[in-house]
Amino acid sequence: MTMQRTFSIIKPDATRRNLTGAINAKIEAAGLRIVAQKRVHMTRQQAETFYAVHKERPFFGELVEQMSAAPVVVQVLQGDNAIARYRDVMGATNPANAAAGTIRKEFALNMGENSVHGSDAPETAAIEIAQWFAGNEIVG
Ligand code: RTP
Ligand code: MG
Repeated sequence: MTMQRTFSIIKPDATRRNLTGAINAKIEAAGLRIVAQKRVHMTRQQAETFYAVHKERPFFGELVEQMSAAPVVVQVLQGDNAIARYRDVMGATNPANAAAGTIRKEFALNMGENSVHGSDAPETAAIEIAQWFAGNEIVG
């Protein structure tokens, strides 16, 4: 058992369609516990900082635009192997390639508007959690 925390975002395309509860139900059904959660409207600069790793990619401008266009829900998820487990529940980046039953298969609109973000490694999870939550806001 490797108890882990991962960082999650319910993206603007999903909050706009009132899917926060439906996505949280899938998260919880997968055995992950939501140990911190808040709704925020990212500024352009916050979105640029968050996705800085992609700043040379052709889709960066569109990504920043979409992430700051409407509210998101930022979360910390905790559980056994939470990072990989959440990536499994999310499904592939492109919803056309996502497996049945995953969040992206069920809810995502396209490659850019793909409903959720999840950390990809322990190091990035720690950085992303610290960008959005103070230690005393995470209650496991
Ligand atoms: P995320 O970081 O949001 O959890 O998604 P991911 O790991 O599955 O995918 P990543 O390669 O890190 O890409 C980050 C986000 O950028 C948008 N994207 N658009 N139009 C495109 O070709 C394209 N490629 C990526 C998606 O919103 C993706 O989730
Ligand atoms: Mg990623």
